[in-house]
Amino acid sequence: MQEYLKHPVFKVVSAICAEDGLQAYVIGGFVRDIFLQRKNSDIDIVVLGNGIHLAEKTAKRMGGLNVTVFKSFGTAMFRYRDTEIEFVGARKESYNRNSRKPIVEDGTLEDDQNRRDFTINALAISLNKSDYGQLIDPFNGIHDLNEGRIRTPLDPVITFSDDPLRMLRAIRFAAQLDFFIEPVTFDSIIWNRDRLSIVSPERITEELNKTVLSPKPSIGFKLLDKTGLLQDILPEIQLLKGIESVNGKAHKDNFFHTLEVLDNVACNSNDLWLRWAALFHDVAKPATKRFDSTLGWTFHAHNHAGAKMIPDIFKRLRLPLNEKMKFVQKLVYLHMRPIALVEEEVTDSAVRRLLFDAGDDIDSLMTLCEADITSKNREKIEKFTRNFKTVRRKLKEIEEKDSIRNFQPPITGELIMETFNLPPCHQVGIIKTAIKDAILDGVIGNNYDEAYRFMVEKGRTLGL
Ligand code: CTP
Repeated sequence: MQEYLKHPVFKVVSAICAEDGLQAYVIGGFVRDIFLQRKNSDIDIVVLGNGIHLAEKTAKRMGGLNVTVFKSFGTAMFRYRDTEIEFVGARKESYNRNSRKPIVEDGTLEDDQNRRDFTINALAISLNKSDYGQLIDPFNGIHDLNEGRIRTPLDPVITFSDDPLRMLRAIRFAAQLDFFIEPVTFDSIIWNRDRLSIVSPERITEELNKTVLSPKPSIGFKLLDKTGLLQDILPEIQLLKGIESVNGKAHKDNFFHTLEVLDNVACNSNDLWLRWAALFHDVAKPATKRFDSTLGWTFHAHNHAGAKMIPDIFKRLRLPLNEKMKFVQKLVYLHMRPIALVEEEVTDSAVRRLLFDAGDDIDSLMTLCEADITSKNREKIEKFTRNFKTVRRKLKEIEEKDSIRNFQPPITGELIMETFNLPPCHQVGIIKTAIKDAILDGVIGNNYDEAYRFMVEKGRTLGL
């Protein structure tokens, strides 16, 4: 085990402990990730004694590093290059029903391991001279790591009731690591579902973000659905679930379709916001669903209605109400445009309009749209994929030729007013839009001279 303890902090802590008669262990996610061969730059050290003193002494010996002390938590941390090292005294915790904040007492290493969320997160490695590098694994966490199992060290009802955020952590780890949640632990999440009400939306969203960012996010969202938590956290996504059938005509299950799209995007992009856009792209389908005897199932303007739903969802989840939200809204709004292009003939003007509307987000939009092809029909998928290649080629050609992506009108409103001696008025807007449309439709090139001539001509037809 010693070969894993390469970080210089371990030897320093070990030496101080020997001098001061303390005992310390590296514990939690860092140890778990050694066995999973995952990079982890957060080291947690637990000491039988005062964590703050040990942190201060260690930081001094490692070159006088700055220590941040959280007195009320009895913890202290410092940074060493790209690692964050946190120290805490071994503790025993008991909880009040209405709070995630525990009542803390000093405890043994065993108490400290007992209070942890999962067996795979309760592994500790000794930093003490006598058994340096020894693994302490009282709950058979290594076995669970090998089996890919998430299980609580104690009765899960207690572990989850103590800190209900752990229910979401279980699901997040399942998605991140492609692990399964052991049945008793799983049932206990269902049992404790209501307890999530004491967890702040910020913490819930932190876990959701990690789930969305995992290699196969659908694992997490299916578990959220199965445990009932999805209904409480994202009822809009829950509503996508189910198939309705009229006169033998059924629509697809939009929940599973959405998850497929999300997984497809996850294969091609690590952009959190693009992934959220994938999750929400069909969010207004339930609200816009109609059955028409000739057309079958329709979801008219669900892109528009979906984009309008995003701000409320973001507000509730405490996701940022800034340009990230606008990006998600834009993608939800535009998500059907490239596919419509693929279905019809790919004309230059349609490509120009798409470039104009998507701007710099065109590549993200194309990634989302390609991910949206989830048909079971192989031929259909092949056809779409082929046509998508054409659209991508055309996008590139037209962008190189016409620079529509960051379109700046070649003729300003001021110039229109000056030319026709107009005050700011409706007609200025009409001429401006006509110039833009002429460029996008390929009637004139995206340059000053052609746009100027067009403006003069347009003015004449308006009697100016
Ligand atoms: N822990 C816990 N219950 C929580 C949060 C954390 O028992 N609600 C314990 C676990 O032992 C965990 C350790 O504290 O391993 C460190 O927590 P944290 O840094 O939040 O998570 P990691 O397990 O390190 O995983 P990640 O870095 O991916 O969040």
